[in-house]
Amino acid sequence: MILLEVRNLKVAFKSEKEEFIAIDDVSFSIDKRETVALIGESGSGKSITSLSMLGLLPRNGQVIGGHVFYEDKDLLLLDQKELQQIRGKKISMIFQDASISLNPSMKIGKQITEGLAYHRMMNREELKCEALRLLTKVGFHKPTEVFNQYPGQLSGGMKQRALIAMAISCNPQLIIADEPTTALDVTTQKQILDLMNDYKQTTGTSILFITHDFGLVAEYADRVIVMFGGKIVETADVFTLFKNPVHPYTKGLMNSIPKIEEPRDHLLTIRDAVSEEAAYEGRIFAPETFSADEKVYHSPSTLIEVEPGHHVRFFTESPEVSNI
Ligand SMILES: Nc1ncnc2c1ncn2[C@@H]1O[C@H](COP(=O)(O)OP(=O)(O)OP(=O)(O)O)[C@@H](O)[C@H]1O
Ligand SMILES: [Mg+2]
Repeated sequence: MILLEVRNLKVAFKSEKEEFIAIDDVSFSIDKRETVALIGESGSGKSITSLSMLGLLPRNGQVIGGHVFYEDKDLLLLDQKELQQIRGKKISMIFQDASISLNPSMKIGKQITEGLAYHRMMNREELKCEALRLLTKVGFHKPTEVFNQYPGQLSGGMKQRALIAMAISCNPQLIIADEPTTALDVTTQKQILDLMNDYKQTTGTSILFITHDFGLVAEYADRVIVMFGGKIVETADVFTLFKNPVHPYTKGLMNSIPKIEEPRDHLLTIRDAVSEEAAYEGRIFAPETFSADEKVYHSPSTLIEVEPGHHVRFFTESPEVSNI
């Protein structure tokens, strides 16, 4: 059952001289109880997609087309006051950088209770009690201590846990987690993602999990959306995608997962991992080097369904689906 649907989303950044299309014709949906991973390299449009869904675009950004359907409403048509009722209460976000999301001069307890007070009718004692319960739930053994601490007194992982406590405080239907663990060491990363996953399993919350790490996608996602250059290039359920990745860009992302049996001096980048031939086939790796004519010539077709539920965008002039 669909919880939220993004349809034909288009976002532009405008400067005095030009308009840059950052998100182009992005459509996807998130089912109830589902974890959907949005994956792609830096600048592919993951954050801007999620920020535009909740009316949080930077000032120079503008949604110029599309819809975000949620509970019979189009979120893109709501004003900020109406969106505030949804943000934090029904849909909450966890960002990569906890130090930006947390107010450094306010104690953790106060930050959690303020959020709670905004959406839930509780007196002071109830608010404190609930905040302590949430801090315990996200793995703090001494919740009272953390309640009285400032963000600067916490480690990166602890800050991220506090943010998750805030994100789940109103029992949201959807959590948008934008690279929530990129800044953390591998062990802490796993703890945090397991925590979110457990929460999802017990509450039925849906998660939009933004990452550039295919290893994490395999472990935590039900469905995957691969983005490149502001467009979706491939989408499928996680098993299908790992078994049969079609787009060269997806294959490249997958090949860049470090393998234990192949020790490397340095981590492969996506471009390292894709063969020249594959890159050529996909025509995706240097769009900025195309001339204006070529850009039109190679302008992408629509997504093509190559097997049930598995869609791929072809950048070549005439997609040869039969060769797949
Ligand atoms: N404030 C801004 N002004 C102009 N362009 C922007 C702004 N924010 C983002 N962009 C552009 O929009 C595009 C998408 O950016 P976005 O932040 O969504 O990438 P991302 O996939 O989240 O990358 P990352 O993995 O680095 O977080 C990029 O080309 C980026 O340069
Ligand atoms: Mg981002």
